[in-house]
Amino acid sequence: MCGIVGYVGSRDATPLLVGGLRRLEYRGYDSAGVAVQQNGKLEIRRAEGKLDNLVTAVAQHPLSGSVGIGHTRWATHGRPTEQNAHPHVDCGAVTAVIHNGIIENFADLKAPLVAAGHRFTSETDTEVVVHLLEDELAKGALLEDAALAVLPRLEGAAALGLISAKDPGKIVAARISNAGGVIVGYGQGENFIASDMPALLEHTRSVSFLGAGELAIVTATAVSFRTLDGKPLTKERTTVTWDPVAAAKSGYRHFMLKEIHEQPRAISDTLLGRVERTTGRVVFDENVRMTDDQVRALPRITLVGCGTAGHAALVGKYLIERLAGIPCDVEIPSEYRYREPVVTNGQLIVAITQSGETVDTLAAMHEAKARGARVLALVNVVGSEATRAADDVIYLHTGPEIAVASSKAYTAMLVDLYLFAIYLGQRRGTVDPERSRQLLAEAFHLPTLIDAVLGQEPKLKALAYRYHGARDFLFLGRGIQYPTALEGALKLKELSYIHAEGTAGGEMKHGINALIDEHMPVVAIALRDPVYRKIVSNIAEVRARAGVVIALAHDDDEEIAGHADEVVRIPRTNELISPALAVVPLQLFAYHVADRRGNDVDQPRNLAKAVTVE
Ligand code: F6R
Repeated sequence: MCGIVGYVGSRDATPLLVGGLRRLEYRGYDSAGVAVQQNGKLEIRRAEGKLDNLVTAVAQHPLSGSVGIGHTRWATHGRPTEQNAHPHVDCGAVTAVIHNGIIENFADLKAPLVAAGHRFTSETDTEVVVHLLEDELAKGALLEDAALAVLPRLEGAAALGLISAKDPGKIVAARISNAGGVIVGYGQGENFIASDMPALLEHTRSVSFLGAGELAIVTATAVSFRTLDGKPLTKERTTVTWDPVAAAKSGYRHFMLKEIHEQPRAISDTLLGRVERTTGRVVFDENVRMTDDQVRALPRITLVGCGTAGHAALVGKYLIERLAGIPCDVEIPSEYRYREPVVTNGQLIVAITQSGETVDTLAAMHEAKARGARVLALVNVVGSEATRAADDVIYLHTGPEIAVASSKAYTAMLVDLYLFAIYLGQRRGTVDPERSRQLLAEAFHLPTLIDAVLGQEPKLKALAYRYHGARDFLFLGRGIQYPTALEGALKLKELSYIHAEGTAGGEMKHGINALIDEHMPVVAIALRDPVYRKIVSNIAEVRARAGVVIALAHDDDEEIAGHADEVVRIPRTNELISPALAVVPLQLFAYHVADRRGNDVDQPRNLAKAVTVE
C-alpha cells in the first residue's frame, strides 16, 4: 500500500525523493512526507492530501541534505492528516521512520513508552518504532543494531526505512513478513531504496530485493545485508529490464489510458518465446520446474487471486477444464487462508497476482504450501514476494502497471492462462497438434484484434458520455464471459464510483430482476458463443421490464441490434481467447465514464495499488 523511497549520496536528496514518490503515488495518496538529514539534525516536511501539497510545502520551506527518506501514505491507523503522515520522528526529532504495513501489537508496545515519558504526536501504529529506536540509540547503538533490537519485537507486517542524525550518512531498510517490497538500487557513489521499481528506474536498474526477515544497511558507497537475527547475508544483484519510459505517461492523460492502449504490445511481449518453433509446444522458461510427469499426474488445480486477478482465475478455471480436463476450483485468497482448506495429494495452486505482493494472495500460497500443494505463481513484478514463495513462476511480461485499476495486467493474465491451459493439454494429450496450432494462431492474432477495438474509442467515449449520469449499472455475462461481466462491473465501480454489479445471466431470476427499471443500464456480453441464445433471452427479460440494454456483440451479428438499445461491436475470435478481447471496450467505457465525472482515474478514492495489508 504505502510507497517508500530513500536516497543516500552526494546529490540534493529532496527532489530525488519527491520524484520517487511521484512514481509511487499509486501506492497511497492521502498524505506524503520527506525527512532529510542535514548538519547533524533532521528536517521534516509533511502534507495532508496529494503529493502536490508536499511539493508546495517543500517549495515554501526548502530542505537541503543528501540523505533522506520519503513516504506516500494509504491510511490504516489514524486519519489521513499531516500529523499522521510519515516520516515519524522520536522525541528529539533526530531519528525518522517510514513504514508500509501494520504493526499489530503497537498498543502493547506504546503503553510502557508513554509511561516512560515518550511523547507521541500521531495516532499511527508506526510511531512506536521510532520511540523504541530512540531508547536503543540512547545506549550508543548504531542504527542497524538499534533496528535489530527493535524489529523482532514488532508483530504484523512491516517494510521500513530509517535514518538518524545520531548515526548519519546511512539508511537502514528492513522487511518483516509480507508487507510489500523493499528494493535496494545501486548507483555510482549513491544508493537508493524504494518499495517499487518505478521509483528507481530513472536512476538504476541494478537492484537487490529484500526478503521477509531481512535488513539492508545502505550508505553512499556500500550496501550490506543482515537477517533480522543479526547474521550477515549475501544477496544477489539483479538487473531489471523494465525501461524508464514504460513507467512514464508518454503523452497520455492518464496511466490507465496508456496501459489500456499498451495492450496489443503487452500481449505480444507475453506471447514472445512461449511456443517452440519445431514442435509447436508451449514452453515456459526455467522458472517453471514442473516435469511432464507431474503435469500428467495433476489431480486438481485451485486458482486464487484478488479482485481483477480473481476474475482472471475464473477464466483460468474455464480454460484449464476445457483444454486439459483437470478439475479446477477458484478461491478468494482472504477466505482460503482462514478456512482450513483440504489439499489433495499432488494438487497445484495457481496464484495470480500482478504485484506479487498482495498479502492475502501470499498468505493463501503459504497456506496451500504448508498443506502439501505445489504452488505456481502467475506474476508481473520481477523479484516480488510471490516469485520467492512459489515453486514455479510464469511471468506476465507486461511491463510496469502504474494505474491503480488493472487493465493490461488482466489481459496478460488471461493470455498466460490460455497458454498454460494449452501447455497442460499438450502434455496430457487432451490438445492435439492441429488444435494447438489453431489455438495458438488465435492468440498471436489477438494484438491485431485489440488494436481494432481500441480504434473504436471515440464511439465508446460517446457512449460513456450518454450514460455517465446513471446511478447503478448491471453487467450480464454467461459461460466464459461471466468473469468479463464481473470485471466490467469492477472497472466501472472503482473508477467512476457508480454502483455496478456483475452477474451470471442465469442468476437474474433469483433476485436481480427486482432491480431492473429504466434507470439502470444493463451491459450484456452477447457474443456468438454456445450460450448466445441464453444471453439473448436474458436481454429480452430485461427489456420486458423497461430496462435499457447495451449489448457487446460480434461485428457480424445482425440480429443483436433488434434486441438492444445500444450495440458495441468487437471482432470475432475463438471463444477461449475472447475474454481478453471483450474486456477492452469495458475498460475504455469505465475510463471515459470516470473521466467525464471528473474523477481522478489513476488514483481512485480509498484504493491503492499493491494491497499489502489485510
Ligand atoms: C482492480 C485491481 C485490483 C487488483 C487486486 C489484486 O482494478 O487492480 O482488484 O487486481 O488488488 O492485485 P494483484 O494482482 O497485484 O495481486
